[in-house]
Amino acid sequence: MPTLKTEILGIEFENPFLLASAPPTASIESIDKAFEMGWGGVVLKTITPDNLEMIEASPRYATIKEKGKVICLQNIELLSHKTVQYWVDGIKYLKDKHPTKVIIASIMAPVEKDEWQNLVGTLNDTSIDAYELNFSCPHGMPERNIGMAIGTSAEVSILITSWVKAVAKKPVFVKLTPNVTDITWIGKAVERAGADGFSAINTVQSFMGINLDTLEPVLNIDGHSTYGGLSGEAIKPIGFRCVAQLRQNSELPILGMGGISNWEDAAQYIALGSDAVQVCTEVMINGYEIINRLKSGLLNFLETKGFSDISELKNIAIQKITSHEKLNKKSHLYPIIDKDKCIKCGKCAKICSESEYHALYLDKDCMHINKEQCAGCSLCSHICPKEAIKMCL
Ligand SMILES: Cc1cc2nc3c(=O)[nH]c(=O)nc-3n(C[C@H](O)[C@H](O)[C@H](O)COP(=O)(O)O)c2cc1C
Repeated sequence: MPTLKTEILGIEFENPFLLASAPPTASIESIDKAFEMGWGGVVLKTITPDNLEMIEASPRYATIKEKGKVICLQNIELLSHKTVQYWVDGIKYLKDKHPTKVIIASIMAPVEKDEWQNLVGTLNDTSIDAYELNFSCPHGMPERNIGMAIGTSAEVSILITSWVKAVAKKPVFVKLTPNVTDITWIGKAVERAGADGFSAINTVQSFMGINLDTLEPVLNIDGHSTYGGLSGEAIKPIGFRCVAQLRQNSELPILGMGGISNWEDAAQYIALGSDAVQVCTEVMINGYEIINRLKSGLLNFLETKGFSDISELKNIAIQKITSHEKLNKKSHLYPIIDKDKCIKCGKCAKICSESEYHALYLDKDCMHINKEQCAGCSLCSHICPKEAIKMCL
C-alpha cells in the first residue's frame, strides 16, 4: 500500500495537502478543526507587525459562476487581523495538540530590515516548521510598497530574502506572484539570496467587470472598486505553468497551488514538480471536509500507478514540456466525427471556414472532412456542442 507521507527539507508531512494562507487559516479555532479533519499542514494567514493597519472593504469578494458552480473567485482581502502574540500563543496551542501537523508562518512587513528581522526573531521562538515570505499579494499591499510590489522586483526580493535568511532558524519558502513577465527571474533571484523553497502561485491580478444596469463595478464598494486577486479553478493553468517553469529552472522544493479542487489537480501539480500542494478557494467553497476525497483519491491513484509515494510521481511530466521549436511538427491529427452524436448543426464547418481552413462541410445530411484542407488544429473538436468530434491519427 502506498503512503501519502512525505518529507521536504527535513520536515515530515502526514500528507502533502496544506491549507494555503487565507481565511481558512485565519484563526486558531479553524486550524484546530482543519487538523482534526485530516489536513497535513497549514500556512497561517499572513502575519504582519502589529502596527501595520488592516482595514477591510465590504464586500470583498466577487465570483464568476457557470451553472451555479464557482469557476473563479476574486478577493480584495488584506492580511491577518490578529496580533503577533495571538499567533505565538496559537502556534504553541496547535503544536502541543497536533505535534505531527506542519505549521508554516506566512509573513509580510514594510521594506525595512528591522521590521522583517524582528518579526522573524519573535516567530523563531515558536515551533513553526518554516516561513513563507508573502512577496505576492496583488491588492492593497502593493500601493503600500509591499506584497506584490516586493515580488515584482528582483532587487527588493533579494534584499528581503537575505535579511530573513540571516536570522531565520527555519527553512524559508518565498511565495511568488504570477503577475510578472517571467516567474523564473524572481525565483532565481531569491534562490541566489538563500531561499530554501518556493510557494507558487498567489492570486492573479484582475478586474471583475462592470454591471451594465448600474454602470458601476461588479465588485462594488460604495460605487467604486479596485483591482483584486483571482483564485480558483480558472487560474489552474497559470499555476501549472508557473510551477513547471520554476521546476525547469531550479531543484528547490515547491509548494504548488492555484485552482486545486480535486486530487487530479493535486497529482498534476506534483507531476509538474511540486513537493506538496496548498488549497484555498475550493475549501472556501466546499469546506475542510474536501480533504477526505483529496487524500483517498491521491492514494488510490498512487496505488493504481504502482507508486510507493509521491516522490515517484514528482517531476514525472516535466521533461514533456519543451520549446515550440522542438515539437514534432510531422505529427498530424484529423477530426473523426461520431455520426450518432452529430446533430448536423454545421457549427464546426462554419467555424472551420471562418478560421481559415474550410476543411469541414455538410454533404448529403452528413458532416465530412476534406483532409487536404485540414490543418489538424482541433478547434472543431472543442466547439462541437455534442462532443461528436475526436482528433485521431
Ligand atoms: C480570500 C483570500 C485571502 C487570501 N489571503 C492570503 C494571504 O493572507 N496571504 C497569502 O500569501 N495568500 C493569500 N491568498 C492567496 C492563497 O493563499 C492562494 O495563493 C490563492 O488563492 C491560489 O490558490 P487557490 O486557487 O487554491 O485559491 C488569499 C486568497 C484568498 C481567496
